Amino acid sequence: MTRNPSTDLYRNPELQFRGEIPSGRIGWRSPSNIALVKYWGKKPVQLPQNPSVSFTLKNSNTETVLEYMPADERGMDVVFYFDGERNEQFEKKTKNFFDSLKDTFPFIGRLKFVIHSKNNFPHSAGIASSASGMSALALILCDLERNYFNTLTDDDEFFRKASYIARLGSGSACRSVYGGISLWGDTEGLPGTSDLYAFPVQQDIHPDFLTYRDTILLIDAGQKKVSSRVGHSLMDKHPFAKQKYKLARKNLKVLLDAMSRGDFQTFIRITELEALSMHAMMMTSNPYYLLMKPNTLNIIERVFNFRQKQNTPVSFTLDAGPNVHLLYPAAYRNVVMNFIENELMPYLTAGGYIDDEVGNGPERIKDKNGEIKVGG
Ligand code: PMV
Repeated sequence: MTRNPSTDLYRNPELQFRGEIPSGRIGWRSPSNIALVKYWGKKPVQLPQNPSVSFTLKNSNTETVLEYMPADERGMDVVFYFDGERNEQFEKKTKNFFDSLKDTFPFIGRLKFVIHSKNNFPHSAGIASSASGMSALALILCDLERNYFNTLTDDDEFFRKASYIARLGSGSACRSVYGGISLWGDTEGLPGTSDLYAFPVQQDIHPDFLTYRDTILLIDAGQKKVSSRVGHSLMDKHPFAKQKYKLARKNLKVLLDAMSRGDFQTFIRITELEALSMHAMMMTSNPYYLLMKPNTLNIIERVFNFRQKQNTPVSFTLDAGPNVHLLYPAAYRNVVMNFIENELMPYLTAGGYIDDEVGNGPERIKDKNGEIKVGG
């Protein structure tokens, strides 16, 4: 059988329990991330059409604890509790995901799983919950492998595999396994980068960019009308797709160069260009659609005016939704917070905003005795 590296890089029939099948639990807390250069458009299987780069967030995360035990005669099974309540949609999605990983983690087939998961940010916040959720699950599976097979003992290998697995769950999730700044996708001139997993880039970044804040302005609480899955697929026949991928590759280089030099002006230009280019793709797809709302534009207008008047290096980016992420160095926090309180509050929903910043990446959940606490 030929191997397809996008799904089979880590296929390993050796990872089978030989003796007793264990029980136990493992938990990871994993953050969301916000892309600066966007991943929008993919090729099989879960590979990006262009490289992307993101800030890993600190406060917006998913906490997942997985209990595992020997499966009964029906084989692998998943029970999923989200925020303390059984969630059949997540159950089905996770079961399908685990089924698809049986060649990578053959031991999965002999276990039953009870998963408790919760996000500390609202569902409708327009924060990528699939990035934090899928990366937490991927880290847990790699941890399970490490515990029982004594593999992945090298941290670089551990996180690379976790990133690869997270990618299969949700593309952008692969960037969440690293703190600081993560890059996903083959990038000319950057050894170690790959379409298969993300790569941490902060060692080449000016320290000001590691202090960056992301204040997420909540503009609309409604469900997205077009999912990211459909959005990616509409890029397949998009008339501007090739140019978009070319522009993203160029933007990534210019952005990384600006971030290594501490050049705020170029950072502002590229982050906003990338956000608007992604939304321009949505507005020119067939069928076309719009995820921005009138208040998204009201806020963007005010950010432009404020920046001109106040000479403050604040820029916006957008995820696949109407909410606006304000990006700025920590040194400008008071000025930007005053701007939000004085000028932007009328455009926000009752939820207001979420105050976040660049974070250090995922962590294993432990209590004082090294045991895991479920939930709470
Ligand atoms: O990870 P997915 O397949 O849900 O795609 C989401 C992509 C964006 O969040 C819109 C952009 C990005 O690069 O994170």
